[in-house]
Amino acid sequence: MSTYLITGANRGIGLELARQLRDRGEEVIATCRSTSSELNSLSIRVETGIDITSGESVIKLRKNLNDIKVDVLIQNAGIAEFNSLSNLDPQSIVHQFEVNALSPLCFVQSMISHLSHSAKIALISSRMGSIEDNSSGGSYGYRMSKVALCMAGKSLSVDLKSRDIAVAILHPGLVSTRMTGFTSNGIQPNESVKGLIQRIDELTLDNSGTFWHANGDILPW
Ligand SMILES: NC(=O)c1ccc[n+]([C@@H]2O[C@H](COP(=O)([O-])OP(=O)(O)OC[C@H]3O[C@@H](n4cnc5c(N)ncnc54)[C@H](OP(=O)(O)O)[C@@H]3O)[C@@H](O)[C@H]2O)c1
Repeated sequence: MSTYLITGANRGIGLELARQLRDRGEEVIATCRSTSSELNSLSIRVETGIDITSGESVIKLRKNLNDIKVDVLIQNAGIAEFNSLSNLDPQSIVHQFEVNALSPLCFVQSMISHLSHSAKIALISSRMGSIEDNSSGGSYGYRMSKVALCMAGKSLSVDLKSRDIAVAILHPGLVSTRMTGFTSNGIQPNESVKGLIQRIDELTLDNSGTFWHANGDILPW
């Protein structure tokens, strides 16, 4: 049994990660800004009031964790505001940068002392953060923030190797969640999460720093 800590676990992919990991007997610490009835029904440890953009939240979380060591940190929380070229909205782009790229990096950095020896970190990024894969344009803030998250993940994989900490950068697929307006073109969270967990299980120091699709494909930067 390992201890997993998941951000943004009250709904969508984060909630399903918490459910599947609990179901296979892992110790799960679900963090969220505010909880949900679905999350409460899992009967796992829930840390509420955890906004990843807030330094105070992270201090509170670290205090509540006390001497608990986390084996797998899954940074899942994120937002998408689809800025088009004709409606760039710089404030929205900055906000997505803060939530999707800068805060995940700062969150991980501040959690390092709470990670166990040989811990794993999974950053939930997006294929929309792949420059090579971008054939449809648009979504400036989301794409730019997820590219930055991919880069943060790669640097973390290099910097944390000497501490035996491996880092995966993961794309969940197109998933039917609130973020995608519960699109009927997407897969269900349970299918995506099966793949995400498999990728995390297979993460080692040797393949650390790779950008994977939940289905196992290696994605181009
Ligand atoms: N769905 C897809 O097709 C898809 C594809 C590629 C990548 N992703 C990535 O997968 C991750 C999960 O997305 P999802 O589809 O499950 O979306 P979702 O249903 O919209 O869930 C987003 C989660 O992030 C949390 N969150 C947002 N801002 C936060 C903040 N400042 N602090 C803490 N938590 C925050 C939300 O909490 P609140 O309830 O408090 O807002 C919610 O729990 C995201 O990183 C997303 O970019 C999703």
